[in-house]
Amino acid sequence: MEEKIVYDFDTPVSRAGTYAEKYEARQRFFGKADVEPFWVADMDLPTPEFLVRKMQERLSHPMFGYTEQYDAIYESIKWWMSHEHGADVESAWIALSPSVVTSISLAIQAFTEPGESVALLSPVYGPFFGCTKQNRRKVADCPLKVTDEKFEIDFLALEQQLARPEVKLMLMCNPQNPGGRAWSFQCLELVVKMCAEHGVILFSDEIHSDIVYAPNKHQSVLNIPEADGIALVAHSIGKTFNTSGLQASFAIIKNPRLRSQFTIAQEHVHAMDINLLGKVALTNALSPEGAEYKRQLVAYLHENTQLVCERLRQIDGLRVMQPEATFLVWSDFRVFGDWQTVFKKLIHDANVALSGGTFFGPAGEGWFRINCAHPRSLLLSAVDRIVAEFRVERGA
Ligand SMILES: Cc1ncc(COP(=O)(O)O)c(C=O)c1O
Repeated sequence: MEEKIVYDFDTPVSRAGTYAEKYEARQRFFGKADVEPFWVADMDLPTPEFLVRKMQERLSHPMFGYTEQYDAIYESIKWWMSHEHGADVESAWIALSPSVVTSISLAIQAFTEPGESVALLSPVYGPFFGCTKQNRRKVADCPLKVTDEKFEIDFLALEQQLARPEVKLMLMCNPQNPGGRAWSFQCLELVVKMCAEHGVILFSDEIHSDIVYAPNKHQSVLNIPEADGIALVAHSIGKTFNTSGLQASFAIIKNPRLRSQFTIAQEHVHAMDINLLGKVALTNALSPEGAEYKRQLVAYLHENTQLVCERLRQIDGLRVMQPEATFLVWSDFRVFGDWQTVFKKLIHDANVALSGGTFFGPAGEGWFRINCAHPRSLLLSAVDRIVAEFRVERGA
């Protein structure tokens, strides 16, 4: 019997010399080059060795010219979507794309005209706003409600936004970043129904869908029959395998008309392929070996997020969202004053760089997001510094 690999997520791996954004951009964003970085949503945990080896094997051949979109890429995606997410996908529905954000931008170009509006549920991953505005479309924001430290959709407000004739597309973050909500089937079904009723195309960004904590389960929009005619789903190996720098993602579009509109937008900017190493990584990651890595990773991240929430709750007055999915913990620091004061205190007193809430839209102001995909010892000592600083402030 083959020996089972046990992945080591505890041993820190230095990223020095790799130009990692999370480290290199610290001076620029935080004014302090040595602050410990828990902001950018990539992991300080290693990509599995089997995957690195596959890429190394490819690198041993000395030519890196143009490549085909070979069958194995599509077979791997189909296997993963069926095995991990219970979604039966056909090769013809898949459009490779350099990144999920590229797909968002292309969907905006394909399904809306300048001056029209794109609905979103904020706070949400910043480029949902950025891509909309950069493409000269308007944001139809529908802020989420916080109930029992969980995000909930305000369906009344959403219906009002979707009913506006200028709203042509909705961007849905499923699971949700920054709040870590794994939307339920019923909730997604209602979103789909409302979009269908009002002739709005739905883009479901499912990049975080592999990192979901039991008993929660990822619900792909692909499994909602009413979504067939109106939805695009985007996924990537970037978050799950820490390969965002390889730029390998894909969109799944069941409806032929939507697919053709999307691929025409891709062709306009020549963004209908992924790079050679991305193909190797994608094909090998979305496999039984990759599923085992993911299983162990999710168990590790679950414990990390639970411990972080437990510790942060020692701070009187801090509101903490326990994520159902994602390696991100979203917390409300507003009792400690304006966000600029908290930001400085986090950087200079606690020596941690977190993502500031305004990156996720106006509804995020005063909140901060901590990335828990780090070796546990480093993560918890950073969180302990936050706890020490903010407990002192409240006189604990
Ligand atoms: C919801 C969401 N979508 C997309 C991305 C970025 O994906 P990509 O690098 O494939 O553009 C992120 C990264 O943090 C994200 O959180």
